[in-house]
Amino acid sequence: MINALRGMKDLTFEESERFVHIVTTAIKISKRYGYSYIETPILEETKLFKRSVGESSDIVGKEMYQFIDKGDNDVCMRPEGTAGVVRSFVQAKLDRRQNEKFKFYYYGPMFRYERPQKGRLREFHQFGCESFGEGSVYEDFTIIQMIGDIFKALGIGYDLQINSLGCPECMPLYREKLIGFLTECKDELCEDCNRRIETNPIRVLDCKNEKCQSLLTNSPKLLDKLCDECDADFKKLVKLLNSENISYEVNTNLVRGLDYYSKTAFEFVSNNIGSQSAIAGGGRYDRLVEFLDGKPTPAVGFALGIERIMELVQMPEVEREGYYLGAMEESLVDTLFPLASKKRATDKVTLEYAAKKLKAHLKGADKVNARYCAVIGEDEMQNGTIWIKDLVEKSETTISQSDF
Ligand code: HAM
Repeated sequence: MINALRGMKDLTFEESERFVHIVTTAIKISKRYGYSYIETPILEETKLFKRSVGESSDIVGKEMYQFIDKGDNDVCMRPEGTAGVVRSFVQAKLDRRQNEKFKFYYYGPMFRYERPQKGRLREFHQFGCESFGEGSVYEDFTIIQMIGDIFKALGIGYDLQINSLGCPECMPLYREKLIGFLTECKDELCEDCNRRIETNPIRVLDCKNEKCQSLLTNSPKLLDKLCDECDADFKKLVKLLNSENISYEVNTNLVRGLDYYSKTAFEFVSNNIGSQSAIAGGGRYDRLVEFLDGKPTPAVGFALGIERIMELVQMPEVEREGYYLGAMEESLVDTLFPLASKKRATDKVTLEYAAKKLKAHLKGADKVNARYCAVIGEDEMQNGTIWIKDLVEKSETTISQSDF
């Protein structure tokens, strides 16, 4: 028997219904906020992710599904959606339409060669949104509000964490201060953090090691070192969240695992799904369009992890729907086809090809959750009628086949 690869999953029945429910709900709400659908390829040039997600990130450093294709191209299965959307934005020359705003939503599979565990897959699915051309912090707030609306519609509780990652003016100064602090307590930090002091010191802040975390309580905080503009934006975001009664926690160690962010960064976390608790994350990435050879364009976005949300979502009750059609004699089955075709123009129809007794047909209608069970026997055939049971009202009726 051939099984799916480790960390990759099939979705069927109840699970696939959950998946579709999450995606359709997220689409409905993101459309209310002016987003339109974008589809970009799953396979991209490896250098796209190196330049955007960042060479020093774990995603690019350790987790890429990267290979050389038959044409000798170095390609990669996308580990996330933002890079491809930005590449597409620049390729379509939308960056040259500087006075316009563009808002895209997408969903689909992402690939990261991580160690699989509960809530952490190698192929997982995201729903994401990217907003281009809007530099105002109002847009950061609006995206956070939209994610809140999506979770509310799905019946999911969450904690929101926010931080600011500064800009090219204040971040490098903070970075130097942090490197100074980290170098002083170098011997007490874990091996990974020691490596990160050189490659990506900001990532030390979200190390999971308890000893590192306790040392970091005394580290310099970026929020104290923001330049005036970043500081004003962060304060404005906090003010907007307060005024709209959206609860949040400021997490100065929230740095995100992708290198393209500046200013606002946020994560939505759930306490009910174990250690892989981030259900959505995102932030502002005002320099990424430029990194990918476009004209400077402010941008902000997020992605949510569909599989993690599937663990939490409250499914709406499925109501009985449509018709189940069955015949009691084999010779009568052919009569059902034109009736089924006609009904399918307006309703969901399940047609049973095998002749069965009435009781078996009623069971069959129940299995497919049909509202009506419509059956033809010898009597109905002779009278040109069809017997129908309404499985909600529990009422029965017989009507002429031509009225069906
Ligand atoms: P991210 O935080 O890497 O951000 O991923 C977003 C969400 O995808 C996570 O919060 C989590 O729910 C889910 N996720 C990530 N890795 C896995 C995994 N291995 N298994 C299952 N679920 C996972 C991004 O990808 C950014 N592109 C978000 C963004 C869009 N920022 C701006 N625009």
